[in-house]
Amino acid sequence: MSIDTLSSMQKVSCWLARNLTNNASFEAYFEPVVQFFLPQWRADRFRSTIMDVRRESADMYSLVIKPNKSWKGFSAGQYLELIVEKEGAWVSRFFSISSSPAYFQKTGLIEISIRIQEKGQITPWLPQALSAGSVVNISEAQGSFVLNEVLEPTLLIAGGSGITPFRSILQQISLRGTDVQHPVTLMYYARSNEHFIFRQELEVFQQQVPNLDIHFIDTDDVGFFSDAHLLGFCQDFSTRDIYICGPSPMILHARKVLEGQTVNDDQINYEFFGPEPVSLEVSDKAVNVLFQDSGKQVSTENAEPKTLLALAEEAALKPVTGCRIGVCHQCICKKKSGVVYNSKTKKYSDTGQEEIQLCVSVPVADVVLAL
Ligand code: FES
Repeated sequence: MSIDTLSSMQKVSCWLARNLTNNASFEAYFEPVVQFFLPQWRADRFRSTIMDVRRESADMYSLVIKPNKSWKGFSAGQYLELIVEKEGAWVSRFFSISSSPAYFQKTGLIEISIRIQEKGQITPWLPQALSAGSVVNISEAQGSFVLNEVLEPTLLIAGGSGITPFRSILQQISLRGTDVQHPVTLMYYARSNEHFIFRQELEVFQQQVPNLDIHFIDTDDVGFFSDAHLLGFCQDFSTRDIYICGPSPMILHARKVLEGQTVNDDQINYEFFGPEPVSLEVSDKAVNVLFQDSGKQVSTENAEPKTLLALAEEAALKPVTGCRIGVCHQCICKKKSGVVYNSKTKKYSDTGQEEIQLCVSVPVADVVLAL
């Protein structure tokens, strides 16, 4: 069946579903009925099987997953939502896919590689809870952190576990070997006490692709990304497409260095692991947040801007959460009054009653929440 035929059929199915059921798809229409028999089923989730849980280092592991047959595949660099049941509740987190589309086509498997967050509730628990044969749910692949279809001269900058989408990208590129016409440079930063995850595999890619140049950079030795590193490792950076992935402070710093070198903004692609940092001024005016249902109150005077989710958890409240990056909408809560800044949409709210996402909303004037 050709792609054109398939997409026409999908269009017809969509049209029928809309006209007959007022839903975007038949799956969405039948969702409540199926959920009566299979409570965990959702039309946009794909039941998948864990094939292996593989240790990569003391604080990092990979889940090898076999998605079910309806899962549509992905582009190198994308991420997915992993949904698992923990103590009777569904919890979800977003992770980059660390293996390549070619590997998926060949084996039907994908991998996600996860760093254990010391104080996290999910990442330390997953390798204990999951083993070969466990069933999890995954979403479709998402995200636009992917290389151009026609590969241009490229610079990749990775910090720590930010290597995961680049492993997928480089695994895919390595199949083209000597056909890769343009230079691709990876600057991979990690601390001495961390492992350079996938180092051996990356070194093999380097042998397979003459135009691929990889630098493993120990930040304890030579510091973090700087003008000197940029000029030393990738002199022609101004002509390259640039991709950055890693912890938020690293991305902010790398963007600043690149901006200082007058690199065009539209040349730079980046992906935050976790919520995008809030760039609001620290205010010396106290902002009070009242969690009305629980009767708790916090004040943010002279403090770094924090999300309402962070403030609620600091007050020992346990609101429902999922992704914590503004995607899944599980943390929606009613704001009764006050003004919040949404770090995802970069917009301020009105003062009145409305629903907000706790994980991306930062209070900027006294707020009352139904929590
Ligand atoms: S926890 Fe997912 S949107 Fe807030």
